[in-house]
Amino acid sequence: CGIVGVLGQLEVAPRLLDALRRLEYRGYDSAGLTTLENGRPVRRRAVGKLGELVRLVAANPARGTIGIGHTRWATHGAPTVDNAHPHAAGPVHVVHNGIIENYRELRAELAGEGFACSTETDTEVVAQLAARGLARGLSPEQAVAETLSRIEGAFALAFLFENQPDLMIVARHGSPLAIGWGEDEMYVGSDALALSPMTSRITYLEEGDMAVLTRAGARILDRAGNPVSREIRSVSVESTLVDKGRHRHFMAKEIHEQPSAVGRVLARYIGADRSRVVSPAEAVDWSAASRVLLIGCGTASFAAHVAKYWFEQLAGIPCELDIASEFRYREAPLDGREVAIFVSQSGETADTLAALRHVAGRVAATLGIVNVTESSIAREVDTVLPILAGPEIGVASTKAFTCMLATLATTAILAGRVRRRLDAAREAALLGEMLSLPRLMAETLRLETEIAEAAAEIAPARDVLYLGRGRLFPIALEGALKLKEISYIHAEGYASGELKHGPIALIDDGVPVVVTAPSEPLFSKTVSNMQEVLARGARVVLLTDAAGAEAAGSEASIRIVLPNIGPEMAPILYSLPVQLLAYHAALARGTDVDQPRNLAKSVTVE
Ligand code: G6P
Repeated sequence: CGIVGVLGQLEVAPRLLDALRRLEYRGYDSAGLTTLENGRPVRRRAVGKLGELVRLVAANPARGTIGIGHTRWATHGAPTVDNAHPHAAGPVHVVHNGIIENYRELRAELAGEGFACSTETDTEVVAQLAARGLARGLSPEQAVAETLSRIEGAFALAFLFENQPDLMIVARHGSPLAIGWGEDEMYVGSDALALSPMTSRITYLEEGDMAVLTRAGARILDRAGNPVSREIRSVSVESTLVDKGRHRHFMAKEIHEQPSAVGRVLARYIGADRSRVVSPAEAVDWSAASRVLLIGCGTASFAAHVAKYWFEQLAGIPCELDIASEFRYREAPLDGREVAIFVSQSGETADTLAALRHVAGRVAATLGIVNVTESSIAREVDTVLPILAGPEIGVASTKAFTCMLATLATTAILAGRVRRRLDAAREAALLGEMLSLPRLMAETLRLETEIAEAAAEIAPARDVLYLGRGRLFPIALEGALKLKEISYIHAEGYASGELKHGPIALIDDGVPVVVTAPSEPLFSKTVSNMQEVLARGARVVLLTDAAGAEAAGSEASIRIVLPNIGPEMAPILYSLPVQLLAYHAALARGTDVDQPRNLAKSVTVE
């Protein structure tokens, strides 16, 4: 979820709505805002995307110069108007990001005292607790402090109080919160992007902080209630929402930005002589590392999965790959010499952040591969490697994925050099291959019409299987995820060799199989796997290169021939056609490509 608050000089509703637009990547199940009009709370809430709230507020204005707003990704309670934020109890209105874990106990306690909750959400309990404090004669600040001492979980909160038009109280405990400083105005938001049109002067609250805001400024208290000062930074984020340009969707635009985005990564991490990696990852003592731990969620975990092949093959370091939500609780033994790498576009994914905090101080080094350099993960790791993808708006990740891959590849090459697995010539050759990627990616994007035709075959399917071997196996996983996310077609990725051990039972003429297979030494084995499905009536879409197409013969139902690329960097190039397949299948199905149902771009709850 995303939260925002403004203590302004003029009407705040338009600014709250604009900030919520920037926070929609955190969820879009429902949205709402509360302003104070002559001291009285005016609340507007709507189910569905932000556009619904915009329409509601246009028809039914909420006036006033102070307000809070929220865009929701449902956790407790269905996306209904009643469950939408802000939540209210008596004079208190509150917006909340995160989860209150002990809300059932608190709800029972409050009900016993006549403070009955009327919604299914965990947030209402927060409003009720604060209202109870006020009813007992506490000041708003005391009531919030008492509330914070009672609630458990991870959250960020912003409170508004009836008849207090110059007061907003906010708190951070496990979910990020930024305070913005203006001219006789103050702002609060889940991230600096939300506040970017209003100010670039930002204070990030620390864990456990509570802040009391008035138009004149902020008083910040730490978890023990002591006044603290927190740095005001100057944060520059693009202030206008990036537009779609000539594209129909952000996803299409972002797919097409990949040659230049990956080019930026190469320019950053490859030295001017074009033959040597230059990276902040040089700070890591790779030769002393016992293992590399690679951790992420969703698409980021598939980028980490490719990197496992690179770190093992190019640097000879044993690697473990983990999904963040699993890693934290599986009690993996650590010897203190691991390098732990956290991969995250947003840098705010709660599962990944929790895994980072779990190992911090217990491994030799933590490294963050992140897009948002002001994010929590970026700020908490020992070393940050920005992936330089630029703002990614489409919920389904595309350019961030290939930029993660390019950043991880240079890191593995660096580790290989330090560990003396790669000599200067081999390093230069690998980097030469990487440097050809922008051109090869641009050539691959020119196959879009062909790929769209293949997508038309996939679009009516019930299920789709994706196959890949070695470094292309994670690309099969990512291809299947992309298709699921935006077209809602059921899809699974498998290692080519694994198909015969179970999933082959699914194959019939209604289940197309997408095979990602550049020609490489094990290509003939992949062709055999392909024949196994062809023999059972499946239609095969083969993504390969010219030599692969020739070796496979004309049996595949559809062949898409990509430019030649060496086996190491093939996963970066082969990401593009699987993204385009998903995109065009979704177009054919008429789904909402940029904001698919049930998903959020950044999930800040565990
Ligand atoms: C969410 C998104 C996925 C994304 C994952 C990890 O679930 O819907 O597309 O891959 O989070 O996000 P991150 O920001 O950590 O890369």
